[in-house]
Amino acid sequence: PLPRPFTVPLPVPALARPTRPGHYEVVQRAARMEIIPGTTTEVWGFDGTFPGPTFDLRRGGRTTVRVRNELPVPTSTHLHGGVTPPDSDGYPTDLVVPAGQGFGPPPGGHTRHGTGADLSSWTFHSGARDYLYPLDQRAATLWYHDHRMDFTAPQVWRGLAGFLIVRDDEDDALPLPKGERDIPLMICDRSFEEDGSFRYPSLDPSLRVTPGVEDAYMEGVEGDVILVNGAPWPFLEVSATRHRLRLLNASNARRYRLELSPGGRFTQVGSDAGLLTAPVTHSAVVIAPAERFDLVVDFSDYPVGSEVTLLNTLGSGPTRNVMRFLVTRRAVDGSAIPKRLSRPEPADRSSAVTTRTFDFRATRRGPGALWTINGQPFRPGRPLARPRLGTAEIWRFTSDFHHPVHVHLAHFQVLSRNGRPPAATDAGWKDTVDVRPYEVVEVLVRFEGHRGRYMTHCHNLEHEDMAMMADFEVV
Ligand code: C2O
Ligand code: CU
Repeated sequence: PLPRPFTVPLPVPALARPTRPGHYEVVQRAARMEIIPGTTTEVWGFDGTFPGPTFDLRRGGRTTVRVRNELPVPTSTHLHGGVTPPDSDGYPTDLVVPAGQGFGPPPGGHTRHGTGADLSSWTFHSGARDYLYPLDQRAATLWYHDHRMDFTAPQVWRGLAGFLIVRDDEDDALPLPKGERDIPLMICDRSFEEDGSFRYPSLDPSLRVTPGVEDAYMEGVEGDVILVNGAPWPFLEVSATRHRLRLLNASNARRYRLELSPGGRFTQVGSDAGLLTAPVTHSAVVIAPAERFDLVVDFSDYPVGSEVTLLNTLGSGPTRNVMRFLVTRRAVDGSAIPKRLSRPEPADRSSAVTTRTFDFRATRRGPGALWTINGQPFRPGRPLARPRLGTAEIWRFTSDFHHPVHVHLAHFQVLSRNGRPPAATDAGWKDTVDVRPYEVVEVLVRFEGHRGRYMTHCHNLEHEDMAMMADFEVV
């Protein structure tokens, strides 16, 4: 039986600990966790936890993470939002294969979509590998997750995701809430079987051979239980002070419209790729898969004893509740939200050297659907674009459906939606943008940091697994 909402305390993921300065080691393994009280769920987690440990790191603090794979299937780990060299970017066919298992794409795999058959694009590491993260980028809430070719969606569903927070002097110097009042919140939906195990409509539950989901789930898999940091509809006791909530939508396919009940406001201070220039106030925030919103909520706006519920007003029934804050006591609040958060870096349309269009579209709907970009299913090693390092381009995303479009490596600002100015929630530097059905979204993308092979894709993870990805190569 599912718990009543707001009866399970909010967990905060443990911090990853270095084995020596700048070096970390995490083990991907199966473990049992009590997610639904009174029963256990097998998760596939980094260090056997879901969410995985939080990496709390400094800008410019070159970090090596050794990932050891003790799962029965290959994995690839991507640092989402990271300015990462290409060979550490978690490319889908750059795999860590369980020690002792043969190398190669699964024998029956990739027939459904006919992609990835070209073996030359596959690389294999046996048992473990190191990922290098230079972290030469602004303070931001990043996250890491599995990115295995054709199987990202079920592997993230089983738990392979966690936070990586980059901090820097600019962010530290601001009087924003800190310490216990700076909380990462990973929101995702899941479904459960009677015995407590995760329910996911894989064609091949071993995740070894045949990719894909049952035909009824071609548009994406949604669950009926909302988890925050891995707990169902949790509660958190807070003092009547400002809190910084780093929201991440780690769901495979679900979008949320977050609002506070009984009313209230979010002050947004950051987006996917770091601080905004100036705070923006919202009464509601729509968050698509993989987006982050760095929000401050001032709980002194509510009397002590209040229950403040975070609602998803796109949901109904159980998916309408997310979590609840219990305002239990008064406390001294030394925090403030300054009018200026970071240096303005206006997106300058005239700085773009070219404009490219990426059309996110199903070739057909229903059984046998294929999700494509510019009419192509994913073809590893065949870039759709070759932007030059150090330049900016306008990328136009067009779409037939809700597609949360993500660009690896390069951050962008939204220039327009359907020819109109961007929404207030589009502010700041981003790596994922919610493209709605039949919308045209223009973004200014800056290619900085590294040359090499990267990708853009839909972050609806089922669409991604059904080939809605494309390479680009920074030259
Ligand atoms: Cu979070 Cu390529 O994705
Ligand atoms: Cu999509």
